[in-house]
Amino acid sequence: MRDRLRRLKEGNDAVILAHNYQRDEVQDAADYVGDSFELSKIASEIRCRVIVFCGVDFMAENAAILSPEKQVLLPVKEATCPMSHMISRKDVRQLKKRYPETPVVCYVNTSADVKAECDTCCTSANAVKIINALDADRILFVPDRNLGDYLATKTDKEIISWNGFCPTHQVITLGDVLIKRQEQPDCEIVVHPECRPEVIAAADYVYGTGGMLRHAAKSKARHIAIGTEVGMLHRLATQEPNKEFSALADTVCPNMKRTRLKDAVQALEQKKYRVTVPENVRKDAKKALDKMLEMGA
Ligand code: 13P
Ligand code: SF4
Repeated sequence: MRDRLRRLKEGNDAVILAHNYQRDEVQDAADYVGDSFELSKIASEIRCRVIVFCGVDFMAENAAILSPEKQVLLPVKEATCPMSHMISRKDVRQLKKRYPETPVVCYVNTSADVKAECDTCCTSANAVKIINALDADRILFVPDRNLGDYLATKTDKEIISWNGFCPTHQVITLGDVLIKRQEQPDCEIVVHPECRPEVIAAADYVYGTGGMLRHAAKSKARHIAIGTEVGMLHRLATQEPNKEFSALADTVCPNMKRTRLKDAVQALEQKKYRVTVPENVRKDAKKALDKMLEMGA
C-alpha cells in the first residue's frame, strides 16, 4: 500500500496531509501530520497539484477555500465532524441580529457556509491570541461551548458561546482525571480545550494537539496522560519514544478513524472525493480563514 501510494503521489504531483488523530497507518504514510492550524497553513502554502486530506470534511474544505486551484480529495466522503453540524449559517445570521456590532469568531470546526458569515476563524492553537487581539469587549464564539468557556477564563472580554460540543471530548469526565491522579500520582495531565470545564480546571495543562506535542518535547515528566482523541498516542510515542503516554478515557473520534491507508490510495486512483466550495461562499469564508492565518501565526 505504501509503495502504491508513493507511485500515485509522484504520478499525480500529490501530497498527503493527515490530522494528528488519524489511524497510525495513515499518519506513517503521510507527508505532513499536524493540527488543524498547521494543516491549513501547509495547504495554503504548499506547491502541488493534488492534496489528499486525511481528516474530516471541514479540514478538506479549508484547503479548497485557501487553494481553489488545487484538487482537494477527501478519501472517505462520510468523514465529518459532528460539532461542525451543530450550527448553520442561518443560526449565525440570527445571532448577529441579536447582538449587532459584535464580532463573530468561529472555531475552524465549522462548514464553509458558517465561516462565510463570521469575521474571523480560529483553532485551538490560536484562539486565545485571536480573541485578545480583536478590538471588541464582547465576542460571539461558535460553535464549541467548552472552548468558549475556556476562552472566557483567558480574557477580560465577554464571550457569548454557542451551545455546540465535541462528542468525543465530552466523554472525558472529572472522574477520569481523579482516577488517573490516584493511580499515577507522578504523571502530568494535559487536556484539549474541547473538554468539559471541570476537566480543564483539574488538568495540569491545556493545549490543542500541536501544543501537546510541543509540550511533550520539553516536559520533564516521564509519563503524560492526555485528554483528547487516542490517535495522539501514536503521534506522541513516535515523537517521544522515551516517554510514556496514556489516555484519560477511551476517546475515539469515529469520523477521524474512517480513513484507512487503502482509502488514501483509492482516492488518488479514482480521484475521489473532490471537495469544492461555491465561489461566492469561498470568497467570504476565505476572508475569515485569511484573518486567522494573519492574526494567529
Ligand atoms: P486541533 O486543532 O487541536 O488539531 O484539534 C482539531 C480537532 O478536531 C479537535 O477535536
Ligand atoms: Fe469533530 Fe470532535 Fe472528531 Fe475533532 S474529535 S473532528 S471536534 S468530533
